[in-house]
Amino acid sequence: MRARILLVISGGIAAYKCLELIRRGRERGLAFRCVTTRAAEQFVTPLALAALSGEKVYRELFSLVDETEIGHIRLSREADLVVVAPATADLLARMANGLADDLASTLLLATDRPVLVAPAMNPRMWEHPATRRNVERLRADGVRFVGPEPGDMACGEEGVGRMAEPATILEAIEGLLAEIRGEARLGGVRVLVTSGPTREPLDPVRFFSNRSSGRQGHAIAAAFARAGARVTLVSGPVCLPDPPGVHTVHVETAREMLDACLAALPVEVAVCAAAVSDWRPAHAAAEKIKKRPGLPPPAIELAENPDILATLSGLSEGRPRLVVGFAAETERVVDNAREKLARKGCDLILANDVSPETGVLGGERNRIVVVERDGRVEPWPELSKEEVARRIVDLVAARLGMGA
Ligand code: CTP
Repeated sequence: MRARILLVISGGIAAYKCLELIRRGRERGLAFRCVTTRAAEQFVTPLALAALSGEKVYRELFSLVDETEIGHIRLSREADLVVVAPATADLLARMANGLADDLASTLLLATDRPVLVAPAMNPRMWEHPATRRNVERLRADGVRFVGPEPGDMACGEEGVGRMAEPATILEAIEGLLAEIRGEARLGGVRVLVTSGPTREPLDPVRFFSNRSSGRQGHAIAAAFARAGARVTLVSGPVCLPDPPGVHTVHVETAREMLDACLAALPVEVAVCAAAVSDWRPAHAAAEKIKKRPGLPPPAIELAENPDILATLSGLSEGRPRLVVGFAAETERVVDNAREKLARKGCDLILANDVSPETGVLGGERNRIVVVERDGRVEPWPELSKEEVARRIVDLVAARLGMGA
């Protein structure tokens, strides 16, 4: 049977994206019934929602017709999942405080179904202490969040508030539905994933880093979350949204990444996909380093960073049952990966063939050879980073004896 979504739409400009959410969701076998707040109808019409969902749209708390036909309590419970998209700051505040002064807030108070919200608001409103408090309270009440995402203007650092894209919301919906149905293969398994580059400061304005996009690591975290795992993602600076259903910890340097990883223990599985800077400037200047006319440029002394993969693999207490690393190789892929596996003490290496003729570096796809501690070697075909992530989940589930 089609999973039924009760979609509560509140009044934000992002409401137009609901039409896309409904279309794509129906293609993927979901059924939608929409509820709008009065403000939502300034942005999206009930006619468009009814046409796309193929269902009546509910708007009024005290509608005699609606109450005799279905009643707001039943409406709130006839769904498998309640999704609020977009969720404005105002609706989050009303939810957090248990207000019930219109149909949308009354349904949200009356429902006994899981609730997923996709906030959308101005970045200052999202950062406001009142909103932070409301979000924390709702999380503690068991409400799940997807997004918001950084806006167009800045790259991750500023301007978070845009509603998650419909595809991302659908992914979160499907993950939650799988969890509800108890289909989650890795239900309750704790997974740690590292992703992205690190930034190693030279002075307050300059740093060493690399071109890692974080896409592979983030896709892995999202795929584990969809399989029901409890995922902590420790990420360096990237231009990607936090994956839905994942606890994401943002760090800058390799040393911060290591600390965040150790703080996330105990876990059953660790996947190190971050491109950790191998070195850092030995001394980060407290003030901006100035040009000195007539003198040679400053020499930069480097210090070695901790190896996170090797540290996690070598823990004498609390070592994850399975530690997975990556290796970027251009030649002797399997031999180099075997050597790296032995040196770092991990259980699996996903060797990434990055020789220029593969076109993998910085691309959308990956060509992986899996090298295991017991000598097994399995080459995978060239795959999208999402597909690589799915296969890693399958592989880990199999090695934990929790295969499909
Ligand atoms: N890694 C880590 N901490 C580091 C360096 C690397 O956790 N300080 C992890 C990466 O996340 C990855 C693996 O180790 O899983 C890659 O190892 P690395 O020795 O950096 O190998 P390559 O990137 O393949 O490069 P090279 O062979 O030049 O060392």
